[in-house]
Amino acid sequence: MQKRFTYMKERIVDISISENKSIRDILRKIDKGALGVALLVEPETNFFKGIITDGDVRRALLQGLDLDSPVSQIVRPKSITASIDIPTEEISKLFGEAVGVIPLLDSNNRVVELAFFDTRVYLPISEPNLGAQELKYVGECILTGWVSSAGKFVTQFEQMFSDFCGTQFGISSSSGTTALHLALVALGIGPGDEVIVPSFSFISTANAVVYTGATPVFIDSEITTWNMNPREVENAITKKTKAIIPVHIYGHPADMSPIIEIAEKYDLTIIEDAAEAHGALYKGQKTGSLGHMAIFSFYGNKTITTGEGGMVVTDNKELADKIRILRDHGMDPGKRYSHSVLGYNYRLTNIQAALGVAQMERIDQIVDQKCTNAAIYGKELSSIPGITLPPNAEWAKNIYWLYSILVDEKEFGISVAELGKRLEIKSIETRPLFPPIHQQPIYDTKQHLPVCERLSKTGISLPSSANINKDEINRIAWEIKNIQKKK
Ligand SMILES: Cc1ncc(COP(=O)(O)O)c(C=O)c1O
Repeated sequence: MQKRFTYMKERIVDISISENKSIRDILRKIDKGALGVALLVEPETNFFKGIITDGDVRRALLQGLDLDSPVSQIVRPKSITASIDIPTEEISKLFGEAVGVIPLLDSNNRVVELAFFDTRVYLPISEPNLGAQELKYVGECILTGWVSSAGKFVTQFEQMFSDFCGTQFGISSSSGTTALHLALVALGIGPGDEVIVPSFSFISTANAVVYTGATPVFIDSEITTWNMNPREVENAITKKTKAIIPVHIYGHPADMSPIIEIAEKYDLTIIEDAAEAHGALYKGQKTGSLGHMAIFSFYGNKTITTGEGGMVVTDNKELADKIRILRDHGMDPGKRYSHSVLGYNYRLTNIQAALGVAQMERIDQIVDQKCTNAAIYGKELSSIPGITLPPNAEWAKNIYWLYSILVDEKEFGISVAELGKRLEIKSIETRPLFPPIHQQPIYDTKQHLPVCERLSKTGISLPSSANINKDEINRIAWEIKNIQKKK
């Protein structure tokens, strides 16, 4: 298999050093470049003379050289280089056990590019968990020609997913965002109406409200769950309020009982945004079954995926029927090409649903693995000063869609952004937490919502897919501990 490597031209200057310098100088260069090597170049001409690894320096010191010895005394193996003109497949073949950096030279023997391969696997923030069953079902769509939005997998996926949530109906759609839009339109929400949403969410929670002509009203989160604060909900209600959208952020359920109580008191509808919370539990009950309706996303980074895709689940037959019509151009169910309402083309395809069915066969396993991984993270990270673990209320089952922590800069020693940068250098991908929607340029409401602003400023998500294993989590935790110690 071709090795995945990256180019690091921008580090050439950092790690280049002339032959007449000392070992101390070269160690500084190696440290600065953080690639484990330095490049020896001829003074003045900058012609490439060789590559020195941190291992070469270590061995030289052990054999009696000291920090002031000249670099030229270090014994080193022949350097592996390549011409800048050779194809990437050829470069890929040159990497090996002890070769992680390959200088690429121009015809004048100057280093013009660096090919860098980390011998440890790159750990992405998330990746889909796909296998042979997905391939089989998608293959079936192709072999039978059922590739569009009609076909057995669509209804099968809807049935399996609504059963999983414990709801009567599941109506698939092209994305989580279109599912939200459909749910709001089915409720008749439109211009002049207000919908209460948490500011701490992905932007589509608010955008879907705006698509209908209604206004999203942003409220703050509670620090214990990172979710919509029920006390803030009641304060935000006006005569125009029609619905509340609690979001189960990062896989932890919102505190639904008080929100349901308020909704009943003011006769408001609840649409759960469970895009990130497949299989999470609130007081033992599945997210998705707690409001009047709920939506899920099956985007590629979600707990299960259909590539792109979404679903509305509900127990309300009337709403389910309406949504089915709305997602299919508003076509009357009994009369083809007759349209009594303005609809949309928001259908999921049979190919996407085929992926969904295969994913549903493994969903419990995927969720369990994510929870197991979160427990390993928790054990490793809990003792690090300045780190707050993700919420885990005693009434909740968090499914840790993205395992996210808060970092207190003072106690930890460096900012969360710096931590992200240092982990990236170690081939560990991270992601900042969502910026509050009320501060997004298109909304910019000038509100001050301190909890979500703090979450966004201090939070970071770590590699979270069900595909990563205990050793990899230990490696991530080790790097974080090490960064904290060095600061
Ligand atoms: C909380 C939340 N709501 C809605 C969505 C929208 O889902 P999609 O990306 O499938 O449109 C997402 C997904 O990214 C999300 O995280």
